[in-house]
Amino acid sequence: MDINENTTAFNRRRFLATTGLAGAGLVLAPRALNAQSASAPSNRATGNAINLGIVGVGAQGQVLLDSINAIFKLGQINIRLVAVCDIWPFQLDQVVRREQTLFPEVKGYSDIDDMLSKEKLDALFVASPDFWHARHTISGLKNGQHVYCEKMMARTADEGREMVRTSKSTGKLLQIGHQRRSNPNYRFAYNELFTKLKFLGRITNANAQWNRAVSDDLKMPKAKPITPENLKRYGYENAHEFRNWRWFKKYSNGPISDLGAHQIDIFNWVLGRPRSVIAAGGVDYYTTHEWYDNVMCIFDYDDIPGGTKGEVARAYYQVLTTTSSGGGYFENFMGIKGSFKISEQARHIKAYAEASSKAEFEAIAGKKIPGTNISFLTKEIAKPVAATEAKADVRDSAPPDAYDLNNFLGNKAIHQFHVENFLRTIRGDAGVTLNCDGEHAFKSEAPIFRVNEAVEAQKRLFYTDADFAI
Ligand SMILES: NC(=O)c1ccc[n+]([C@@H]2O[C@H](COP(=O)([O-])OP(=O)(O)OC[C@H]3O[C@@H](n4cnc5c(N)ncnc54)[C@H](O)[C@@H]3O)[C@@H](O)[C@H]2O)c1
Repeated sequence: MDINENTTAFNRRRFLATTGLAGAGLVLAPRALNAQSASAPSNRATGNAINLGIVGVGAQGQVLLDSINAIFKLGQINIRLVAVCDIWPFQLDQVVRREQTLFPEVKGYSDIDDMLSKEKLDALFVASPDFWHARHTISGLKNGQHVYCEKMMARTADEGREMVRTSKSTGKLLQIGHQRRSNPNYRFAYNELFTKLKFLGRITNANAQWNRAVSDDLKMPKAKPITPENLKRYGYENAHEFRNWRWFKKYSNGPISDLGAHQIDIFNWVLGRPRSVIAAGGVDYYTTHEWYDNVMCIFDYDDIPGGTKGEVARAYYQVLTTTSSGGGYFENFMGIKGSFKISEQARHIKAYAEASSKAEFEAIAGKKIPGTNISFLTKEIAKPVAATEAKADVRDSAPPDAYDLNNFLGNKAIHQFHVENFLRTIRGDAGVTLNCDGEHAFKSEAPIFRVNEAVEAQKRLFYTDADFAI
């Protein structure tokens, strides 16, 4: 093997080991902004296992369990899955069987109150549909559990507020599942490139998208149905709405919150609090849904962290559910010195230097993460451009140089870092605080709650302090 590859692999391992995870260490230090820590955690690093339960083990609940299983196997955090809850016996049975191979004593419950009253849990994961988040989170917090709740944190802003208030009044941790906030690629970019180096100069624009191809509605398997009584008891009109809850107004805010929440959160992390939004959207393709299948919106920001108050940045977001065109999903920030496209799909991450800032980007590329051979950025070898193509128009901007970012994910799944951050905060690890606590998640989600309203109003909506107040 090439000696440099060896060195890089070793240094990357050492870097990840010394930083522990995406929340500790020099480079990935959590921002003061995200500062909830366990004031009196029930389970500091005493060697006692942190007992976990989870409610809602559909698609995302199982992804979280994959991370929990991986963390258990690594053995660095002492955890034990104690209980699993799902109202649909089909999901519950298969997940309990699967988890029993690692946690032989795990028990299954069909009702959360039953689970919470019988089990002694330290932490509860909530991965039920959005309209259940507030109820499940508040029940857990009041019952003494730290809670990791999936995004969108709630169906309504008022429910989100109540969750934050309950976390404060009970002193229990509340982490919201915006996992990009713990992703080491995002944290490196945020802490080092955006915050310390301000490598894009003044940011004037951003765009982000989640484009997803047409998909059929989910069906209820005939052999494994949920009973009509249980559907009614847990607030579902029928089996179709139960399976496809994210498309119906009673249960969710549709694609702008289901997919957009992740990425508008990144706008708000970097650009701060938006002052206004304009939006368009519609139910233009699907005939069996209530929620808009496409939404396009523009947020204006004028108080960017580290920027000059009054300078405007405009951020465009689109969620399209009828095409996967245009590179799937990413967030792209544009400044006068360069631009930076980031995604959970690490292969899409790329920085571009404007011609006038090439020297500055070269200097950044020359920097190494202390104690490692890892460059801050690595210049991509440019493909030769035919002389005739080089300038189609005399006013064309010079082509930017492209740079790659080191992929810090290693072999961990993208959710694992966020789950680890939650568990380490519960354990009370020195210097570790939640990367996305309820209060900061609420302030980032607050603008999203009003995008559908802007679509309906067909006019610009201005945010006020009341939107962000808890
Ligand atoms: N962070 C991410 O990347 C990510 C990705 C996908 C989904 N999510 C979020 O995860 C949550 C779940 O989404 P999903 O795609 O897994 O949905 P899903 O429909 O696949 O799963 C939901 C599960 O919850 C169960 N359930 C419903 N009501 C319940 C109740 N009252 N008590 C107990 N169980 C109940 C259902 O039976 C089902 O098994 C949503 O909030 C979604 O926004 C997050």
